[in-house]
Amino acid sequence: MPQKKRKSYYTAAKALHWLVALIGILLLMSGWRAGDITPDNKPVFMMIHSGLGSLVFVLMLIRWWWRKKHKLYVRRQWYKKPSILIQLLFYPLLLLQPIIGVLQAAFTKYDVRAFDLINYSALAVENEQMFNIFHKLHGIIAIVLILLLCIHTIDRAKQFFVEDEVSIPK
Ligand code: HEM
Repeated sequence: MPQKKRKSYYTAAKALHWLVALIGILLLMSGWRAGDITPDNKPVFMMIHSGLGSLVFVLMLIRWWWRKKHKLYVRRQWYKKPSILIQLLFYPLLLLQPIIGVLQAAFTKYDVRAFDLINYSALAVENEQMFNIFHKLHGIIAIVLILLLCIHTIDRAKQFFVEDEVSIPK
């Protein structure tokens, strides 16, 4: 495959990576504020939160399909490399988090309409017990994602600053 074409596949993969990272960080930061939002502002807040969360789900599917289709980031013995394992963990978690979000939204007492297009709260009747279960799970996954994000950032920074420095010819 021509090198130029291959480079463009990686550029698209990187663009998807940063788009998901940006939206994911926004969701993680704003999600914790959801409990403090006044009932008047809640529908708008949840419209954006659930819409962006659903978008993350779609973008992660596209990312997975893109890297498989073009055989990107294929490394030998990847399963022995902790930094790659951490990166790969983001995929199931960023697919699971929106699913748990939808299940949580289905049992809420308030309206959750993703971008005012999909009414997730109409999927089931209000049920506080079920809401609490999925709410707890949603919170736990968010904490795991924050921890992974910290490890991933430190790992990438280390590679960028330390390992690049080592490879500079004297
Ligand atoms: C990657 C995607 C997502 C991330 C990172 C995320 C993150 C968060 C976080 C950190 C919280 C606060 C958890 C807590 O208070 O314990 C939260 C709350 C919530 N999220 Fe998400 N979320 C995502 C996707 C979704 C989706 C797709 C939906 C709905 C379709 C959703 C619905 C909710 C609801 C209903 C709450 C609770 C609001 C409340 O406290 O009343 N989330 N989210």
